[in-house]
Amino acid sequence: MVKYNYNLMKGIKMAHIWQGIIEEYKDLFPSTITDSIITLKEGNTPLISAPSLGKTLGGMEVYIKFEGTNPTGSFKDRGMTSAISAAAGKGVKAVMCASTGNTSASAAAYAKRAGMKCGVLIPDGKIAYGKLSQAIAHGATVMAVKGNFDDCLETVFELTDEYPIELVNSVNPNRILGQRSGAFEVVDELGEAPEIHCLPVGNAGNITAYWQGYRDYKDAGISQNLPRMFGFQAAGAAPIVNGARVLNPETIATAIRIGNPASWAQAEAARDDSNGLIDSVTDAEILAAHKILSSEIGVFVEPASAAGVAGLLKLGATGLAKLGVKPGSRIVITSTGHGLKDPLWALRSEPSEDSPQVEAIKVENNKDQILEILGL
Ligand code: F0G
Repeated sequence: MVKYNYNLMKGIKMAHIWQGIIEEYKDLFPSTITDSIITLKEGNTPLISAPSLGKTLGGMEVYIKFEGTNPTGSFKDRGMTSAISAAAGKGVKAVMCASTGNTSASAAAYAKRAGMKCGVLIPDGKIAYGKLSQAIAHGATVMAVKGNFDDCLETVFELTDEYPIELVNSVNPNRILGQRSGAFEVVDELGEAPEIHCLPVGNAGNITAYWQGYRDYKDAGISQNLPRMFGFQAAGAAPIVNGARVLNPETIATAIRIGNPASWAQAEAARDDSNGLIDSVTDAEILAAHKILSSEIGVFVEPASAAGVAGLLKLGATGLAKLGVKPGSRIVITSTGHGLKDPLWALRSEPSEDSPQVEAIKVENNKDQILEILGL
């Protein structure tokens, strides 16, 4: 039995208990949000160093900002607390979103906390099971549309325009205000903005929000520098890279299976104003990065959340050097959602639903046999 000397603890400073992004960054939000806070204590996500990745990339200092630890398991909670808080202040009774899954899970949870009705349009058969079950569990009315995310979003735009229903997709400026807190946390922890910030791009709200966050922190005099923003789309859903809307987007990373991003122009502005880039990564590259994140770094993500790592690995040390990124530079990659949202891809080595699935090794309940298999 360990015996503690409680006398030594007298006068010890208690840990600061995180109160959610609005309360923590209160001065950086308008009163329309801070006066009616609806929170699940989102934010304060870990910034995890990834030395093996840093080495592969030619001696960079690499960190994963792991958003899977948010209350509903994705970065969406940062924007949802602010959008639903603002809606609560206005007395909104019902909210709606189109979603590839995570937005719907987050909207459903926060709307429930605020006592609002939540309607969700999802592309039929194309959202991960974990996300669908969350939205249903939190009491949203979930409707599956024969069409893709872009079709769902068009209908939601029309409905929220014509009826007293609040739109909670990331075109809602209150979503962006909350999501920019990801950038605040990175600077708070590193003491300065990194040289590069990488993230997946789908509807392009998050790249817009991070860029806004970095600029706001610089304007407030908290940081001196701005990062270069590197966004990555899935090759089968890469409208910004191709410069044209994709009518039938396809990728295993269903979260970013989007052919006509609502914040397209803002994403291009973030890219151009930051001297950054937006490139695409194949499903095979996404799956390979997914494996590196889980097997080398200890971070389990859903496929879309591996796009940032995939993009960096595609560039490689040579690509980064060509872009003028010096060894020792700090690179932060947002991994947007938890692996438990869509765990099946962890068991496959190829980006195809027909590819063989890894299974647990079946053994007798026998110590010798178990030790033999372990090679011990
Ligand atoms: N990663 C994950 C896990 C996502 O769920 C999304 C977007 C993105 C990246 C891309 O972020 O859209 O701001 O560029 N998911 C939305 C949804 C579209 O409905 O859950 P973005």
